[in-house]
Amino acid sequence: MNIEPLKQAALADLKAAADPASLEQAKGAWLGPNGKFTALMRQLGALPKEERPAAGKLINQVKGELESALAQRRGELELKSALPKEATDFTLPGRRRTSGKLHPLTQVTEDIVRSFRKLGFAAADGPEIEDEYHCFDALNTPADHPARDAQDTFYLDSNEKALLRTHTSSVQIRVMEKQRPPIRIIVPGRVYRRDNPDATHNPTFHQIEGLYVDRGVTVGDLKGTVEFVFKELLGSETKIRFRPHYFSYTEPSFEIDFSSPMVRKMGKEWLEIAGCGMVHPVVFEKVGYDPEEWTGWAFGFGIERIAMIRYNINDIRLFYENDARFLRQF
Ligand code: DAH
Repeated sequence: MNIEPLKQAALADLKAAADPASLEQAKGAWLGPNGKFTALMRQLGALPKEERPAAGKLINQVKGELESALAQRRGELELKSALPKEATDFTLPGRRRTSGKLHPLTQVTEDIVRSFRKLGFAAADGPEIEDEYHCFDALNTPADHPARDAQDTFYLDSNEKALLRTHTSSVQIRVMEKQRPPIRIIVPGRVYRRDNPDATHNPTFHQIEGLYVDRGVTVGDLKGTVEFVFKELLGSETKIRFRPHYFSYTEPSFEIDFSSPMVRKMGKEWLEIAGCGMVHPVVFEKVGYDPEEWTGWAFGFGIERIAMIRYNINDIRLFYENDARFLRQF
C-alpha cells in the first residue's frame, strides 16, 4: 500500500487552507468520519493478516503527522487573525486628548477659598434670588436707601418682593439665622446689578464675602486675615491699607486698598479692592445674637477685579464671552 501520495496531498491541502473555515473543511475531508484517511484505516481489515501490523503502524504514523500539520496550521491562522489587518504606521502623530480647563474666574475663586480654608474658614452658599429682607433690611439698609432703587436692583416681575441679590452679604444673614457663633465662613457667588456693560462693569459679576463672629474679635484680626490672603493671592510684595468708609451693616467701616508692583506699573500707588468692617450691632440683633456678647468682622470684594489685576486683563466682558482663544491663556 503506497500512502505517500495521499499523505502529500493531505499535507498540501492543510497548508493551503487560508482561513479557519477552510482548514476545518480540509480536516473533515481527510481525517473526519468520512475522510480519505479514515477510509484507509477501514481498508486494513481487507489486507492479508501478516501485512496488517506494518500497514496499521504506517497509517497511524501518517495520521499523527497530519494531525500535527493541522495543529500547526491552526496556530498560524489564529496568529494571523489576531494581527491587525493593516500595518501600523508608528510615525503617525498620537491622538491627543484635549483636557478642559477651569475658567479664570473659577481658578481665582478656588485660590481665594483655599487661602481662607487654611485659616479655618468654611465655604457657604445662599440663593441668587433673594428677598428684600435678607438683601437689605437685615443688613440695616433702610427702605429709602439708594441701593434698593430699581435703578440698581433687578426685581422679579412675578413677585414684587423677590429680587436678584446685589451682593453676597445676604448670605451673612442666612448663615447667622441658622447657626450660633462662632462663625467663620467664606461665600463666593454671583451677584446682579442694573448696570450697562463696559470695560469695568457688567450686570452679572461675582463677589466673595467673608464673615467671622466670635468673642473679642477686633479690627486687628480683620487686617491680619485680609493681608494674609491678599499676599497669598497677589504676591508677597502686596501691601494693604484701610481707609474709613460707610456701609450700613458695619461700624466702623473701611475700604481696603492694595498696592503691589503690578499696581505701580499701572501708574497708581493704591487700588481700591474691597469693603469691610466690624459687624454692626443692629445686624446681630436681627439674627438674634446678643451684640454685647458677640463681635465680628465682614468683608466683600469683586472676584473679577482680582482676576483682572492678577492676569492683566483690561476688559471685564472678556470673562463672559466664552471665546476659547481668550480662555485658553489661563
Ligand atoms: N456688600 C458690599 C458691596 O457689594 C461689600 C461689603 C462691604 C461687604 C462691607 C461686607 C462689608 O461684608 O462688611 O459693595
